[in-house]
Amino acid sequence: MLIFDKKLHLLTYLSTIVSDKASLGFVPTMGALHLGHLSLIKESLLNNEITVVSVFVNPTQFNNPNDLSNYPRTLEKDIDKIKSISCKVIIYAPTVDDIYEGKTITEHFNFDGLEKLMEGQFRPGHFDGVGTVVKRLFEIVKPTNAYFGEKDFQQLLIIKKLVKTFRIPVNIIICPVFREPNGLAMSSRNERLSSDEKNEAALIYKTIKEVKIKFKTESVLSISNWVEKQFKTVPNLKLEYFEIADETFLLPCKRKNKNTNYRAFIAVYVNNVRLIDTISLN
Ligand code: PAF
Repeated sequence: MLIFDKKLHLLTYLSTIVSDKASLGFVPTMGALHLGHLSLIKESLLNNEITVVSVFVNPTQFNNPNDLSNYPRTLEKDIDKIKSISCKVIIYAPTVDDIYEGKTITEHFNFDGLEKLMEGQFRPGHFDGVGTVVKRLFEIVKPTNAYFGEKDFQQLLIIKKLVKTFRIPVNIIICPVFREPNGLAMSSRNERLSSDEKNEAALIYKTIKEVKIKFKTESVLSISNWVEKQFKTVPNLKLEYFEIADETFLLPCKRKNKNTNYRAFIAVYVNNVRLIDTISLN
């Protein structure tokens, strides 16, 4: 198993093994790997000769310093989990300095307003941080295919926009949300939940699953009111936002249009752990 913490060493190694025809799959992560990440890695291993996984808790995408310091860092365990599926994976686990070279600042991007909605509205600057690090990682790894989970659907659209704007020659591959047996979407942040909190957090998926059914017959307003009510009754859960939006521009759905694909988006605090989830509605 090869593990690099310096981009120079990674680049030197990749230059010796990557031929013109070899395809390189890349799974960027912030570590605390769960089955969702492992499914992305498996997908990459299936479809590429070489797979690189990065493990880097990117400071510039955290608008809340407590969230950054509490973010789980479990590199040894992550390495073991990757090893359990394949020793062929190349791990890049850089320091902040290796990525930011002494200047931990973000680039500012215009993602056509996608960056200002939902996650962008509640986590100001978040997508500038994501854009900055993903662009740098793509420049370093130069992947053929890069794998992302559907749970972060807004991030996915932003990365697609980034790739288009900067003409980065990479295919963005979307993989489905992985869920705990109780429906809770897998997330590195789940590591911070007690088992009682995990049980309570099951309400998030239970609610959006019901939204999918209601969307067939009810108005967006009545669905939104219903969702708010669900969370008011559970003291440890606080709904931050619920939105039904189209899948292209993420604009809030006011009146349903037959030819548009819609999706529900939700962010909920379980005590002080913030979780997001999403479901396609048609
Ligand atoms: O989705 C994540 O884990 C992160 O936002 C990413 C894409 C690895 C960038 O830090």
